[in-house]
Amino acid sequence: MADTDDLLERKNFYLDVPPACSAFTLKGSNALDWGMKNRLARIFSPADNRTVMLAVDHGYFQGPTTGLERIDVTIAPLVPFADALMITRGALRSSIPPETSKPVVLRSSGGQSILKELSNERIAVDIEDAVRVNASALAVQVYIGGMHEHQSIGNLVEIVNSGNRHGIPTMAVTGVGKELARDAKYLGLATRICAELGAHFVKTYYCEKNFAAVAAGCPVPLVIAGGKKLPELDALTMAYRAISEGAAGVDMGRNIFQCDAPKAMIQAVRAVVHGDETPEKALDLYHALKSDGEVEEACQQKTQLR
Ligand code: R5P
Repeated sequence: MADTDDLLERKNFYLDVPPACSAFTLKGSNALDWGMKNRLARIFSPADNRTVMLAVDHGYFQGPTTGLERIDVTIAPLVPFADALMITRGALRSSIPPETSKPVVLRSSGGQSILKELSNERIAVDIEDAVRVNASALAVQVYIGGMHEHQSIGNLVEIVNSGNRHGIPTMAVTGVGKELARDAKYLGLATRICAELGAHFVKTYYCEKNFAAVAAGCPVPLVIAGGKKLPELDALTMAYRAISEGAAGVDMGRNIFQCDAPKAMIQAVRAVVHGDETPEKALDLYHALKSDGEVEEACQQKTQLR
């Protein structure tokens, strides 16, 4: 029988404690709904509002990119070291174990290839399918100044609207055509337009001069792409500078998965992004982890030979 006699007396409403009311400190995100904040907090660590996203979506327009020939072999082991994984639904379903607890930033635009005009994209995922794969964010390319600028901005607006209906944030990715300069003036224009149209965070490129102005002029978090493969110290230096100048993290692909030691590199990038480590110290960490990994791999090979 239910114990109803003295229930009221035992309740404690903590009358002297004011209701919990905490600010959500991720840049520009305090006015969002609970689901949006919860998903963003899975991508950006609440401890420092920063993220190391691993971008492996290159195949959506350039096919089997070097390092991504077998995502199940090369990328799945890196996932535990990333804060989030940026990927297409096809690669996710076929190559990433569903047991992963890492948030997925789902590539949601496409429709072109490297053989054609890159800005000619359309929305490439239904919101229902994004929900089905439990996406924590949607990613859409925006080509400011590109041949299909208007269409790509339309894609962003539609993705933001459908994501908003389900509490799923949108990351706008500023695609820069070959004819456009990746300078602060251009990147400031592109990132600000994306944020004003409702993107919850924006992926862009780092620029040597005045990146701080790009970051300050964008009212939501910026993450930087790594771009083409660089020597490790240069990639770590770029990440360090971007963070020091106001970026909230990286969404890095080739500079991680095209490395000789991708596991070591992603950990070195984490040291910069989450540990404010200098590029030189992070490079030392890379080399140390790389040689540890080589020892580990040699042991595994010996074991397999037995
Ligand atoms: C942009 O076109 C896509 O999201 C790329 O797959 C991604 O930005 C590439 O990352 P990274 O430049 O670091 O290889």
